[in-house]
Amino acid sequence: MRVVIKDTPAEAARYAADVFTRQLLGQPGSVLGLATGSTPLLLYEELIERCRLGALSFREASTFNLDEYLGLGATHPQSYRYFMDQALFDRIDIDKTRTHFPDAASPDPQKAARDYERCLRDAGGVDLQLLGIGANGHIGFNEPYSSLGSRTRVKTLTAQTVADNARFFSEDEFQPQLALTMGIGTILEARRIVLLATGPAKASAIKQSVEGPITAKCPASALQLHPAATVILDIEAAGALEDPALFRHIEKQDQALSPSANGVAS
Ligand code: GLP
Repeated sequence: MRVVIKDTPAEAARYAADVFTRQLLGQPGSVLGLATGSTPLLLYEELIERCRLGALSFREASTFNLDEYLGLGATHPQSYRYFMDQALFDRIDIDKTRTHFPDAASPDPQKAARDYERCLRDAGGVDLQLLGIGANGHIGFNEPYSSLGSRTRVKTLTAQTVADNARFFSEDEFQPQLALTMGIGTILEARRIVLLATGPAKASAIKQSVEGPITAKCPASALQLHPAATVILDIEAAGALEDPALFRHIEKQDQALSPSANGVAS
């Protein structure tokens, strides 16, 4: 696992944008795995700007989002499809027929989960997966004690996750407590993974994910098993790590060896 610590959320976002830019320049038809939440917004703004300037294009790319609230259709303003349209897809040159979400409005969510796995497989799997992290270590909506081998399925959200995400809902608005999410096993099949975390609320989850042990209690700790996972942090999210100086040292050495290789090694 490669750990990159930047001074600010904006620098962390730019570093992650460099990874995405390199991926798309090297393989314009890449399959990207995308995430919602407030953390990726700076990264998405950076990608939008680069796309506007012609420095990268999503024209041939396709995307698969990690998760969707159960029961919310694509036009529901609280759906993750709606969020992604606003935050990214409507502002870049992507073909929206190639942007995918689990069909959380399906009357048969178990079948929708199987269909999503099949669609992912048919697309050739994810080349570069973006992740955020919940304060309890969840990735996608894989809450603590999710099987490390899990596939796309329905998950019940924990009280903590519901409370953490309540800020996106108005007081009387219905807030779903179930979601369809890629599994941890599904996520680990991506060829490369980038986890982005900023702010002090993520420091404890990051400590557990990076320093271990690998445990279903902290789903993001499963990334230690992945051969090409990069965890990109700002100083605050790195604040509980035992030895942040070590990661800064490694990063400096890597940069000196290969200045354009952001996030390639693990
Ligand atoms: C939700 C999403 C996760 C995301 C998490 C953190 O639970 N399902 O994919 O990582 O929120 O969100 P934020 O970046 O807003 O802290």
